[in-house]
Amino acid sequence: MKLEWWQRAVIYQIYPRSFQDSDGDGIGDLRGITSRLPYLVELGIDAIWLSPIFSSPMNDFGYDISDYTAIDPIFGSLSDLDQLLAAAHDLGLKVILDLVPNHTSDQHAWFKQSRSSRVNQKRDWYIWRDPSADGGVPNNWQSEFGGPAWEFDQLTGQYYYHAFLPSQPDLNWRNVHVREAIYDVMRYWLRRGVDGFRIDVIWHLIKDDQFRDNPPNPDFGPGRPPHEAVIPLYTTDRPEIHDVISEMRRVVDPFPGRLLIGEIYLPIERLVAYYGHDLSGVHLPFNFALLNTPWDAEHIARLIDTYEAAIPPGGWPNWVLGNHDRPRVATRVGEDQAPLAATLLLTLRGTPTIYYGEELGMQQVPIGAEDIQDPFERNVPGLGVGRDGCRTPMQWDASRNAGFTSGEPWLPVSLSFRDTNVESAQRDPGALLQLYRALIRLRRSTSALVFGNYRPISIAKDILVYAREYAGERVVVALNFGSEAILATLWPYASAGGRILLSSRLDRRGEMIDQHVSLRGHEALVIELGLETASSRS
Ligand code: GLC
Ligand code: MG
Repeated sequence: MKLEWWQRAVIYQIYPRSFQDSDGDGIGDLRGITSRLPYLVELGIDAIWLSPIFSSPMNDFGYDISDYTAIDPIFGSLSDLDQLLAAAHDLGLKVILDLVPNHTSDQHAWFKQSRSSRVNQKRDWYIWRDPSADGGVPNNWQSEFGGPAWEFDQLTGQYYYHAFLPSQPDLNWRNVHVREAIYDVMRYWLRRGVDGFRIDVIWHLIKDDQFRDNPPNPDFGPGRPPHEAVIPLYTTDRPEIHDVISEMRRVVDPFPGRLLIGEIYLPIERLVAYYGHDLSGVHLPFNFALLNTPWDAEHIARLIDTYEAAIPPGGWPNWVLGNHDRPRVATRVGEDQAPLAATLLLTLRGTPTIYYGEELGMQQVPIGAEDIQDPFERNVPGLGVGRDGCRTPMQWDASRNAGFTSGEPWLPVSLSFRDTNVESAQRDPGALLQLYRALIRLRRSTSALVFGNYRPISIAKDILVYAREYAGERVVVALNFGSEAILATLWPYASAGGRILLSSRLDRRGEMIDQHVSLRGHEALVIELGLETASSRS
């Protein structure tokens, strides 16, 4: 079985502002990342994805780009990126950049031209509409960061559309020149040697050409962010999106071995459409389902089954536990369950993505009012939507600012950094970091964990058991979602016993088991069964 590199890979997301500062300005940068590559090699990951590093006024911390082919000086220079690419490639690591094609910054030259007059050549590069008959907004479309998605521009007397901040105007993807301009950006980075893109809010690119009102959301209520008052029927996931994405694929395909990942928050049945007709879509539509599914055996089992069944033939799965927009997994599932979550992520079928610091068990950091940076939190306060708490500096050691910066960090360092940091985890044989390393090593040396199919074995109250099978090799994963010790049965799937390859507690390795295995509270086990024989198949 031949797989592409990204099918075997473990991807690691770096939020560049928070990984490693090299120049004392309190903000992480490219040289900082380069200096930490050996750590990532030791961890065993295969590819890094960098959140945006391009010129930006930083209203949305780089997701508001003013020049797609320039590096923001906060992060360094083009030659710093070239050095990062070369160093990473020397170490066998791939580098994936963030592509943000849905919107630019209002400081981008394209938007400055577009807003300058109704007859400007680039007017149609953005989405301009006349006021409605009563002089107000053109329709009821809502910004994800609060308020109407339309901003009135005095100079030309029209509104422009912004799915996010007013300073992030949406590009008009129905305009062929816009598409060509972004494809040129893609080619520019691909020629420079980047190994692929994670494409920001890709399901947003095309909006309804009739600008119909979004329907009200019957489930909307107090405590929900205001944009959820309407269902984004006419603003996202439009049918025409798939033609655009296959066009993007045709830009990338001439460059061998490059990867497209799509950021898509949709239910599974809609999500899998982004593999595209005949797999002409993105290679990996990000699967965020674990971020929202209740953390228990039954819900997770059902989710895996649903996802596995929905993936089109030839489509490759992927799994995510956290990112720079969502609360940290160790806080969400609890410290006790974090090792189980790691085991799940790294033994499911498909490409896993790790969010920096997850491997240390980094927690969501409470952010005081005076430290808030996230524009979403600023616009929509009090609902707990803030994303700063999952973006705090990487915890490298027990020294000042956790070794992240010699200056003042742009977000507070977690108070837990003296206990939770890379240096101490490297010395602690029981640390979560050691489990991540062991799991990644095990993936590499166990074909069934990479190539194997997924077979559900059993679910009981707190126990989920599944197998991965490849060419007669059988690996069983047993997960205890509860805090009590529990007995899992592998019978009749395992007619003979097996051997423990790994416990989430990093002991019990080599222990022989029969068809029943006891799990301690919160424990996850990876078990190797004897080679499959005809009689062992039930
Ligand atoms: C994506 C990014 C998020 C950003 C938004 C607007 O969801 O992950 O951080 O705020 O797009 O660009
Ligand atoms: Mg810096």
